[in-house]
Amino acid sequence: MINTQHIGTPAKRVDGRAKVAGTAKYAAEFEAPGLTHGVVISSAITKGRIKKIDAGEALRLKGVLQVFSHQNRTKLADFDKSYSDLDSPPGAPFRPFYDDKIQFAQQPVALVVAESYELARYAALLVKIEYEQEPFEADFENRIGQAYAPEEYNSTPPPEPWGDADVAYSKAENQLEVEYFHPSQHHNPMEMHASTVRWEGDGRITVYDKIQGALNSQKYIMGVFGLAKEDVRVLSPFVGGAFGSGLRPQYQLFMAVMAALELKRSVKVVLTRQQMFSFGHRPKTLQRFSLGAAADGELRAIRHDVFAETSKFEDYQEDVVIWPGVLYKCENVKLSHKLVPLDVYTPLDMRAPGGTTGILGLECAMDELAYKAGLDPLEFRLKNYSEKDGNEGIPFSSKELRECYRQGAEKFGWYKRKKEPRSMKEGHNLIGWGMAHGAWEAKQKEASAKAILRVDGGLVVSSATGDIGTGTYTIMTQIAAETLGLPLEKVEFKLGDTSLPKAPLEGGSWTASSVGSAVKAVCDKLGQKLLELAQEKEGSPFAEVKFDEVEFRNEQMRLVKDPSIAIAVTELLRQNKMDSIKAKVNAQPAKEQQSKWARYSHSAVFAEVKVDEDLGTIKVTRVVSAIAGGRILNPQTARSQILGGVVWGIGMALEEYSVMDPQQGRFINHDLAEYHVPVNADVQDVEVIFVEENDTVVNPIGAKGLGEIGIVSVAPAIANAIFHATGRRVRELPITLDKLL
Ligand code: MOS
Repeated sequence: MINTQHIGTPAKRVDGRAKVAGTAKYAAEFEAPGLTHGVVISSAITKGRIKKIDAGEALRLKGVLQVFSHQNRTKLADFDKSYSDLDSPPGAPFRPFYDDKIQFAQQPVALVVAESYELARYAALLVKIEYEQEPFEADFENRIGQAYAPEEYNSTPPPEPWGDADVAYSKAENQLEVEYFHPSQHHNPMEMHASTVRWEGDGRITVYDKIQGALNSQKYIMGVFGLAKEDVRVLSPFVGGAFGSGLRPQYQLFMAVMAALELKRSVKVVLTRQQMFSFGHRPKTLQRFSLGAAADGELRAIRHDVFAETSKFEDYQEDVVIWPGVLYKCENVKLSHKLVPLDVYTPLDMRAPGGTTGILGLECAMDELAYKAGLDPLEFRLKNYSEKDGNEGIPFSSKELRECYRQGAEKFGWYKRKKEPRSMKEGHNLIGWGMAHGAWEAKQKEASAKAILRVDGGLVVSSATGDIGTGTYTIMTQIAAETLGLPLEKVEFKLGDTSLPKAPLEGGSWTASSVGSAVKAVCDKLGQKLLELAQEKEGSPFAEVKFDEVEFRNEQMRLVKDPSIAIAVTELLRQNKMDSIKAKVNAQPAKEQQSKWARYSHSAVFAEVKVDEDLGTIKVTRVVSAIAGGRILNPQTARSQILGGVVWGIGMALEEYSVMDPQQGRFINHDLAEYHVPVNADVQDVEVIFVEENDTVVNPIGAKGLGEIGIVSVAPAIANAIFHATGRRVRELPITLDKLL
């Protein structure tokens, strides 16, 4: 049982002060004695080979230590595997400096290491590289004909068809065939990818890396360089946003480690903002729908066929087509996911990978079908509400989506909406109201934690997870404080260090559930040990008491039925002449129970846009996002997660676009001047609602995770609002004014 001293209260971030005061250090901010600096040189061509690298002029500069490339790279233990616990799509991973081949634009081809950053940067300009260019293929639209179904799907394979979608479609009174497209998009976290490698002597290194799981970087380094675990410690105490870009160890890690091992010096490598566009993105995707509904709007058939870009060396695939089965009740469904290979870097998971994409297409297409059937979009969704997961044929562990609709619609004022497009106006602005719903997986993964309670009353709990800005430090502190009845100030949570107990990558919205469950379990175990200590004492009032008959409050252990029988936890240690008491656990998901239930968080998003009739400019003036995400551990950090998702959804709908120039084969807007993201002026009234949802199946703490559910249904709600405002369907993101005029 979790009681309510800290859980569910809006605690401020425990790391907030360190962040605003600048004492929270990020990978590029760590120093080391005699630190050297590496600057990456990126390929000037998109495909071909390096004919010659002339580093002579650079190397003649005093203070330039080496120019690394495929010509002089270290002999490696094993360069052929991904060594990543996640995001290792089938195929051959990109290997920096492997040979003279260029596979994609901006491929890193050399690393210049010098005594100072400025010198390394200057020296990089002096390195002369000759290339031999080859023709490349970067034009997605032209290559759709060559799409293939991968031999192996790295995420969920498209669910097998059920019913007969083709026949049901041909008989349906309302038929809709549409295509939706969204471009490649990049993660663009504030913090650039960086690795600082401290040379500790004798082949040992300490690495500060930007990563969503320090263990992943350690595993990669051990595998590729053949180092022993004891010789590689990786730390990642703070991460300035990642959104999936830090799931996979990136090439700056390889380069910094290789240089440090070769030079026997400490090395720092930080990528530039431009280089942040060189290692993976949300893949551009074309989605084809054939949707059939009966005259009354009841869904009869769904066909959802997806074409998404991948690289020529890895088959990257994500969960784009699982959503019809999760979000709608339909007897006839057929799904496919095909890959279009291009000369680009392999796409990479980006916040709600697949969900953001698939739900965008599905929720816009369903909006169109609702209009065809003459139903209000919300009415249409209620009519086709899924009581079970159609993909697996199993019920949901909990699904308070109806309550999301109800509370969200009420807050938004949805019932005052006029149905006809272009029917709501305010001066020269057309007003549009749109909605969409969404879901995201509520997973739990195996995770470990340890805890140590000191005789001074301080508790330290730790696990090798990460906090990528999500609030992990804070909620883990809350769970620990709650479980052992301590004030937050007496609890310290440590993460981002390979010397700590094993945890999964921070991603997939599973950290709260996975690491949270481990933290809860380890504190319970410590509590049990404290009870045993009490029981050792002769005449103890706790002698015959079971663990569920005690509770921890106000730094005391006490009897549930008689709180006046209490003892301070520090007193228990003192009586036994102990400095501290420790516990360690490994928390496993209850697989058997979980396999009987489909586990998802849900959202309903309502959006208002104002479109200037003359200029075509679009403002998102209001968004209400209602979320069913299980137990909300901290309403304040939870709200921030959803707000972030809404902001990004606005960007996705209206602004974000990594422009691939098919002539050059490269993303031509690779900086924040040209790659547009929402600024304050783009974000107006945003309201977040958490509906109550009790789930005893997902995990012991009942939290479903909130990292991704906040984004999935925002862009389609906005796109649908734009249609309602203007009467025009724009089926290609981003929806910019030129497409509306
Ligand atoms: Mo997330 S895309 O699993 O960081």
